[in-house]
Amino acid sequence: MAPESIPATLIPGDGIGQEITDATLEALDALGLKFEWDMQTAGLRGLQTAGDPLPKATLDSIRKTRLALKGPLETPSGGGYRSSNVRLREEFKLYANLRPSKSLVPGGRYENIDLVVVRENNEGLYMGYEHFIPIDGDPHAVAMSTGVNTRQGSRRALEFAFEFAVAQGRKKVTIVHKANIMKALTGIFLETGKDLYEKKYKGKFVLDDVIIDACAMKLVLNPWQFDVLVTTNLFGDILSDEIAGLIGGLGMAPGANIGRDAAIFEAVHGSAPDIAGKGIANPIALMLAAAMMLDHLNRVPEAARLRRAISDTLNIDKVRTGDLGGNANTSTFTKALVSRIKNA
Ligand code: NAI
Repeated sequence: MAPESIPATLIPGDGIGQEITDATLEALDALGLKFEWDMQTAGLRGLQTAGDPLPKATLDSIRKTRLALKGPLETPSGGGYRSSNVRLREEFKLYANLRPSKSLVPGGRYENIDLVVVRENNEGLYMGYEHFIPIDGDPHAVAMSTGVNTRQGSRRALEFAFEFAVAQGRKKVTIVHKANIMKALTGIFLETGKDLYEKKYKGKFVLDDVIIDACAMKLVLNPWQFDVLVTTNLFGDILSDEIAGLIGGLGMAPGANIGRDAAIFEAVHGSAPDIAGKGIANPIALMLAAAMMLDHLNRVPEAARLRRAISDTLNIDKVRTGDLGGNANTSTFTKALVSRIKNA
């Protein structure tokens, strides 16, 4: 019987996006899965081809499929258009960003890392309430930004993290905050988390909390003391890159943006303009994002097969891209992976 086809939106994105998307599609194909991809654009490519960094057709597609696999999208720093990633998360109310980092290659600076960051994805300092105040002819004399965290938004992200911890049998959840200085903005997140734990989750796992700066240091000194970290938008963005660094870099870190009505899966990394077009990007982060998407679709055996094939390609075949110290390029890595999947 032909496999049932799964409708989903595909956004290859900018920079290395097309290269790692092609590699990921080959892996999904090798698993025997049939997707009905609706190919769309966003970011710089959206602007260049449709005149909009978040074209209406892309939004309409996700509204229909409620599922997207997305490559990295370029965002100009300083001025220019607003991040299409942030807008997508807002548009589809993707309130939780799940970013796991798990060691796949032994012998790195840190062994046996298995950490998860759950980041509140819609609020905080990423809401873009920013402006300059001109003084004495200097249009940028003063810069202002307002962060907003709500009880409801905090609760949704915290509840997602707590439910994830219970479902995955995780032992500890740590709330990361800066409630000693930003007493209201991040205090509300800490207060909501403690309250939710007392009322609904007490005894199911251990809950503790740590201030963001201490957390950043502790992650470098002894990352094994942590398990699941749950935090506000900006801190989560920074910490997830930090934990990616513990497992060998951004090429290995996937992410899922989860909402009630849609989910978008992506790599944590950006468009890597320094290596775009060279065919040397590590496609693993997007492939692991695809594995998270398969879990989300309840295709758990296929997700496990993909993860196992990635691990065997790295550790048995010793085929690795340059960022992992190997000399494979995107295409030779993908070829080796596909043959692992097919011969498993
Ligand atoms: P980046 O993550 O693109 O690159 C940082 C460093 O990591 C670079 O040296 C790059 O070559 C390397 N790298 C990243 N992914 C890699 C991979 N798969 N294989 C091998 N090496 C890899 O961060 P950067 O340069 O700060 O940002 C570039 C653009 O990407 C910006 O426009 C930024 O806004 C955007 N961006 C988009 C994200 C998304 O779409 N989710 C996330 C982060 C940044």
